[in-house]
Amino acid sequence: MRILFCATNTKAEPWIAALRAALPGAEVEEWQPGARQADHAVVWAPPQQMLDEQPALQGIFNMGAGVDALLKLRLPPGAKLVRLDDAGMSVQMAEFVCHAVIRHFRELDVYEKDTAEGKWSFRRPRLRSEYPVGIMGLGVLGARVAQAVAHFEFPVLGWSRSPKQLAGVRCYSGEEGLQEFLAATRVLVCLLPLTADTEDILNRRTLGQLMSGGYLINVARGGHLVEEELIALLDDGHLAGATLDVFRTEPLPAGHPFWTHPKITVTPHTSARTLRDETIAQIAGKIHALERGEPVAGVVDPERGY
Ligand SMILES: NC(=O)c1ccc[n+]([C@@H]2O[C@H](COP(=O)([O-])OP(=O)(O)OC[C@H]3O[C@@H](n4cnc5c(N)ncnc54)[C@H](OP(=O)(O)O)[C@@H]3O)[C@@H](O)[C@H]2O)c1
Repeated sequence: MRILFCATNTKAEPWIAALRAALPGAEVEEWQPGARQADHAVVWAPPQQMLDEQPALQGIFNMGAGVDALLKLRLPPGAKLVRLDDAGMSVQMAEFVCHAVIRHFRELDVYEKDTAEGKWSFRRPRLRSEYPVGIMGLGVLGARVAQAVAHFEFPVLGWSRSPKQLAGVRCYSGEEGLQEFLAATRVLVCLLPLTADTEDILNRRTLGQLMSGGYLINVARGGHLVEEELIALLDDGHLAGATLDVFRTEPLPAGHPFWTHPKITVTPHTSARTLRDETIAQIAGKIHALERGEPVAGVVDPERGY
C-alpha cells in the first residue's frame, strides 16, 4: 500500500514518521510533482496538480473536519473523500464555545477592562434563562457543544438539516424551523459546514431575527458570515457582540474593521486544532477499514457538500 502526504503549511516529517509508525508495511512519502501512483492520500489544502496526477487514489483523507476547500477542487473519480470526525476536536470546540458564552454572559470582558484600570466594580447578575444558546449544526462538533453548554444550565436550542433528538436540547430543522429557532436564541453559535446552502447564512435577515442584544459566535467558516451586515447590526445595537474565530480571508488582513471593533473578539482560527496523534490514529483506522472493504465513518457526500 502506498500513501502520499500532502499538506500545505505543515511540517511534513513528523506526520510522515507518525503515519509510518501507525501503518507498518505501508510506503508513506511526501508528495512531489511526478510522484508514483498511490492508493491513498492524507491531505490538507493540496494543490490541484497533486489530485490531477493521482487518478488511482481510493481514499483522500482530509486532516480536518471541514471539506469546503477540497470540494472546490477536481477530485480523482474513484476516490472516497473522508473527513476527520472528532479526533480530539469536539472537546476543544466545547471548551472554546463555553468560554465565549460564559465570558459574554458573566461580562468577564467588562471586568477585564475595569480591573485593568484598577476599578473594583460590580455588575448586576444576568438571568441564565434570558440567555438561550442556539447552535446551528448538530453534527459531530455541534452536538458535543450543545451538551457542554447545557451542562452550565443555559437553555439550549439546536438547528440541523434533518430532524434530531438530543437530550436537553430543543431541536429545530430545515428552512421551516429556522425562524422559530432564531427568534428563541440570544447567543448564536455557528457550527455548520460551508456549503452552497449555508454560505452567507449569517446575514442581516437571520441575525436580525435573534433576540435583541444577541451575540454571535462563529467557529465554522468565514464564508457563513456577511461581514458588513454583522457590523451594521452591532453598530445599531441589535447585537451586543461577536466572537469570531474564522474569516473570509485568513489571516484576517491588517486594517480589517473586525480587528478594532469594540464589540468583536477575534481569535486566529484556533477553536479546534488538528491534533497529530489523534488524527493519525483515526486516519490509520479508516485506511485499514477501507482496505478491508469495511464501512468508513466520515465519508463526505459531494452532492450534499459535507
Ligand atoms: N474553527 C475551527 O477550528 C473548526 C474546526 C473544525 C471544524 N470546523 C467547522 O465546523 C464544521 C462542522 O463540523 P462537524 O464535524 O460538526 O460537521 P458535521 O458532523 O458534518 O455536522 C454538520 C451539521 O450541520 C448540519 N447542516 C448541514 N447543512 C445544513 C443546512 N443546510 N441546514 C441546516 N443544518 C445543516 C448537519 O445537519 P444533519 O445532521 O441533518 O446532516 C449537521 O448537523 C466543519 O464543516 C468546519 O467547517 C471549524
